[in-house]
This record gives sequence, C-alpha cells and structure tokens, in this order.
Amino acid sequence: MKELRTQVAIVGAGPAGLLLGQLLQRSGVDNVVLERRSREYVEQRVRAGVIEFGIANLIDDAGAGERLRREGLVHHGVEFRFERNAYRVPLSDLADGKSITVYGQQEVVKDLIALRLQAGASLLFDHEVTALDGLTTDEPSIEAEGVDGKIRISCEYVAGCDGSFGVANRSLPTGILRKYERTYPFSWLGILAEAPPTSEELIYCRHENGFALYSMRSPTLSRLYLGVRPSDTLGAWSDDRIWDELNARLATVETSEIHQGRIVERSITAMRSVVVTAMRHGRLFLAGDAAHIVPPTGAKGMNLALADVRVLAEALVARLHDNDDTLMATYSATCLERVWRAEEFSNYMTQMLHPNDEDDFENGVQLARLRQAVHSREASTVLARNYVDLNSL
Ligand code: FAD
Ligand code: DHB
Repeated sequence: MKELRTQVAIVGAGPAGLLLGQLLQRSGVDNVVLERRSREYVEQRVRAGVIEFGIANLIDDAGAGERLRREGLVHHGVEFRFERNAYRVPLSDLADGKSITVYGQQEVVKDLIALRLQAGASLLFDHEVTALDGLTTDEPSIEAEGVDGKIRISCEYVAGCDGSFGVANRSLPTGILRKYERTYPFSWLGILAEAPPTSEELIYCRHENGFALYSMRSPTLSRLYLGVRPSDTLGAWSDDRIWDELNARLATVETSEIHQGRIVERSITAMRSVVVTAMRHGRLFLAGDAAHIVPPTGAKGMNLALADVRVLAEALVARLHDNDDTLMATYSATCLERVWRAEEFSNYMTQMLHPNDEDDFENGVQLARLRQAVHSREASTVLARNYVDLNSL
C-alpha cells in the first residue's frame, strides 16, 4: 500500500473540501484532497447557483473570486409570484446595500480546482476514501482506493467534506451520528436550458399546481425548477410537459410566455432537512453537506458549506501554527448555531411556497405568509437579510 503524510486530509472535492484546501494552502498548512469521482464529473455537476454577499467575499479573500466577479450576475432584488401577481422584494434596499451573485456551483468548483492544480497542491481524483482510523488518537489516518491501488494517508486532522452519503458522517459513533431529520412531500425537477433568461431577477413562484423557480446562469442559459411529486421520474416529464407546466405556474396577469430552448441537463432532487448533533469527533471535523442538508428553497446549501469551512480553516490554522485549540473546541457549537438559522429560513421558504394538495388550511396560511413577506416592510426586511447574507450575520 502506498503511504503518504500530510497535516490535514480532506475527504471530498466539492465546494467545501476545495475551499478548505485553498484556505489552508494559503496559510501554509499542508493538505491532501481526495475525491472519489473524476475531475470531469465534479466540474460538470450542476447544482446550486446563488452566492451570498459575505460568501462571495470569502471566495475573493481565498484568491478564487476573479472569474466570479467578472462573470457572476449581481442581483439587487428577487421576485415572488402567487395568485398570478408579481411582487419584487428589493433585497439591497432592505439589506444594507448588499446583493447576491448568481454563479453556478460547478464554476466555483472549476475555479478552485484550477488554482489548486496551478499551485501544484495534491488533489487525488478517482480516489474513494474507504476508512477513517484512529480518530480519537494523536495519529489519525485514512485509507483510499484509487486506480493504482490502495493508499494510506497519516495526518494530524481529517476534514469530512464528503457530502451526506460519504464516509465521514458514517464514522461518527452512534451517539453523535444521531441526526435531526425531516423529509418533505415534494421533490424538485431542475433543468438547464439554452435560452436567454426571460427575467433579470430570480422568481420564486407559488401556484396551485406546485412550486416553480426561475433562475439563470448567463445571458444565454436559464436554470428552472418545478416542484414535483417525490414518486415522479424524469421519464414522466417530457420537454413539452416541463415547458407547459413552467408557463402555467409562472404566468401572471401581465406577463407573456417564458423563453424556451434546448434542455441540456435535467435531474430530480428529493428535499430533506438534516442536522447532525455534533460536527466534531476527536480529530475528525465535518463541514458542509456531510453535517447538514437544507431544502434548496432558500438557496443555502453551498453557502452553508463554505461558511463552515471559513470557521474550520481558521481553527486548524490556529492549532497547527500557534498550538491554540480554542477555535477547535468551539467549532461545532459555532457552526451549529448558524446551521439552525439556515434550517429555519430554508424551512420557512419551503413551507411558504409549496402548496399542499390535501390541506386547505395550510394553503391559507401559506398565502397569508406570502402576503406578509411582500407587503410588510418588517417581514420583507427579515427575508432579505436572511436571503442575502444569512451566513455572515
Ligand atoms: P458536495 O458538493 O456533495 O461534495 C462532496 C464531495 O465528496 C463529492 O464530490 C463526492 O463525490 C465526494 N465524496 C463522497 N464520498 C466520498 C468518499 N468516500 N471518498 C472521496 N470523496 C467522496 N443547493 C442549493 O443551494 N441550490 C440547489 O439548487 C441545489 N441543488 C442540489 C442538487 C443536488 C442533486 C444535490 C445533491 C445538492 C443540491 N444543493 C443545492 C445543495 C448544494 O449543492 C450542496 O449543499 C453543496 O454541494 C455542498 O457542498 P459540499 O462540498 O459540502 O458537498
Ligand atoms: C438556484 C437554486 C436554488 O435552490 C435557489 O433557491 C435559487 C437559485 C439556482 O440554481 O440558480
């Protein structure tokens, strides 16, 4: 078996693992990133798209913001549609001038990979981590399987940035592994289409047929979502059915049809909330989806993951450079307070925008919440601040 040594072994090259590697690298902490998928796969994986104000600054501070600032779309407002009317929430006016940046998650991932490879830092694709050992000793190690066989990496700390179905959260003892969990009775069908955006700002829409979201990636690419039944498969959704349903849900008394184009990517994602009870076990630290999942309605998943890493990088640097354990000791509690704030906001957005076929009382409450969100300055201010910068509040 091949043997390696590093200070921090990072499992997973999603946004969390890659940003952690970058921040540690810049602070002179040696680290290795292992990813079970290929470079092509992680660079093409279409997921989130909204980057909070403070998280865009974090990416900048990490030296990875050059293309994000050049190509990212800066938005100062967001639209809500319900009962065939449209209402704009002026995010920047309500949130101290701050804005969001629309920039695909896979672009953040591409930028971080390019920087890492340029710097000559270790990034092992096609390496699946199979075991984490000695986590409560002074000599933890991880084992991975790659194309050329097995590899063992001895390290001082392990960062589990491998998503919710990775190996890291499964390595927690059962007491800690206990999770707070909720599943929602709907999924999202997401598409990427070669069509110029119809709207300049994102549109969150509640319609009696279900939820719809209008987003975009560039002047020529639109990203749209439909709330669907959890049992729905892609086979049940032809292109025509997708566009008809998007048009039906997004229609208002004033607007015409949305721009259509070739659908270049499509997927269905189940919606869940998950929070682990602790984000640290001995020398293992969890960050991002490995520790928590939010339903996507608040656009918080990637932002939360990157915000965890901001705290973790600082804690690891303090320990490894200055032998100061203070931030490590508070890592889990510091992160979980923010994570629960994001769970609350994501739950609020989700519950407000997805109609319930079987519960008209619930539907009445949802519409009352929506009216309050767009008509009450106090309610829209809370919404705007959470939407734009929850992870830095
Ligand atoms: P991930 O991005 O999941 O990265 C984890 C990495 O670890 C992966 O590359 C994985 O291959 C790797 N890995 C796993 N196991 C191992 C192992 N044993 N060894 C080595 N590597 C391993 N959020 C939004 O805000 N809006 C959205 O529209 C949205 N859509 C989503 C769609 C899908 C299908 C999914 C799954 C998530 C979506 N999210 C969305 C959430 C958002 O993408 C995540 O919150 C974000 O990716 C979290 O980043 P991460 O680095 O923690 O985890
Ligand atoms: C996008 C995804 C989200 O989950 C969201 O709430 C807003 C936008 C997007 O992919 O652009």
